[in-house]
Amino acid sequence: MQRREFLSGIGATGLVATALAGCASGVAPPSRRVLLAAPTSTAAAGEAALPVWAYGGSVPGPVLRLRRGDWLDLDLHNRLPEPTTVHWHGIRLPNAMDGVPHLTQAPIEPGARFRYRFRLPDSGTYWYHPHLGAAEQLERGLAGALVVEDDAPPPVDRDIVWLLDDWRLDAQGRIAEDFYRFHDVAHAGRLGQRLTVNGAVRPELPLRTGERVRLRLVNAANARLFALQPEPGLNAWLIARDGMPAPQAVPWDAPLLIGPGMRADVVVDAVRAGRFAIRQFNGREAEPLATLVVGGADDPRARPAPVPSPHTPPPEPALADAALHTLRLGGGARSREGWPADTPEARAARQQRRAAGAREADPVWTINGQAHVGDHHGHHPPAFRVPLGRSVRIAFENPTAWWHPMHLHGHHFKVLSRNGEALTESAWRDTVLLAPGDRAEVAFVADNPGRWLIHCHVLEHHAGGMGTHFEVTA
Ligand code: C2O
Ligand code: CU
Repeated sequence: MQRREFLSGIGATGLVATALAGCASGVAPPSRRVLLAAPTSTAAAGEAALPVWAYGGSVPGPVLRLRRGDWLDLDLHNRLPEPTTVHWHGIRLPNAMDGVPHLTQAPIEPGARFRYRFRLPDSGTYWYHPHLGAAEQLERGLAGALVVEDDAPPPVDRDIVWLLDDWRLDAQGRIAEDFYRFHDVAHAGRLGQRLTVNGAVRPELPLRTGERVRLRLVNAANARLFALQPEPGLNAWLIARDGMPAPQAVPWDAPLLIGPGMRADVVVDAVRAGRFAIRQFNGREAEPLATLVVGGADDPRARPAPVPSPHTPPPEPALADAALHTLRLGGGARSREGWPADTPEARAARQQRRAAGAREADPVWTINGQAHVGDHHGHHPPAFRVPLGRSVRIAFENPTAWWHPMHLHGHHFKVLSRNGEALTESAWRDTVLLAPGDRAEVAFVADNPGRWLIHCHVLEHHAGGMGTHFEVTA
């Protein structure tokens, strides 16, 4: 025990020395970088040379690893054939850096660049992706993880990002071009037949017994709900959700739901030699998503459960005087409620734009009766306004026949209740997953001025109208 304390003492001294050195120079080390978004061709989704759109030439894009308090400083160069933006999913950042076209910034035109620069207030697992033509741009490969390292991470031997995705390929083994297909938009969104981890189909991760790994799971799929569970024989825990540490580690012994946009950090101990699949449950069926291949002699000494890192949580909402807003979802297949109004004129105009090459969804989904289709949130009034510093409660109601991961920009929230049942241990999140029929209440302090999106992270649902925004007025 003493020896342990001694060793960690040395580590701490080392850190202090580095911090002091940083102070002496007076500025944070320069970390400005360039990120290119461009078409390329690479090994992905089981194809040797798949034409994709990529950040930094790779699928997924590079893992950006920084520390809490660091500045992210990055020039996005757009070499795509169409405009784009980058959204830093889950980060509490200044509104102008949020990457929502026509709401927080102008689209970055082909050939143009945009500098994203902001401080990282929270440690955890985040990610970045386009927010313009997102259903197509993400599906073509544009997504990457942003890891903000903890000040005091739970000790692990390896810390690995697994960016999860699925790909719909056509008969030629190319990304199918049927974006915004009506059936996908009105049902579960665009599902692909090839499931991948970091772009690879059923990869293997070699481990030694006694090793403890942290897996940062990021669901970057347009629409697929991941429900993952390891085969028996590993010791595993869930330690964080949407970047925010759980109050305590929870044993991972049931399918873990990770909706589109959501993250889950898990810790896995390799205790026995063998092959252990992480399986994806799809209804009753399960298929291996990836396999941990553990070598070495069995190591029956069970290590204690990991302790999620301490963190400074976002400000606690004052529930008593919080403004309550209800956001009722509507529309979609198998439902009569909440379908948006559509007119023959609007349909004709869409047809004309499509004939000219535009890609867009039909209005199918609503929030409080309004369908905000496409990337035009700046043209709509906010669903509500709230003065800076005020606490907000949002009740999401899902009378539709489909799942919706509802994501809020610029803030983390607490899930207070689900279907009337109070949740005692609510971790902070940026996305709440609603099953058909669900009602969930969340709360947060509106402490970030600006106009912030709230939308379903099934990208086809958002494209088909399921998005709105709120405004925090300074
Ligand atoms: Cu990851 Cu508005 O989204
Ligand atoms: Cu949805």
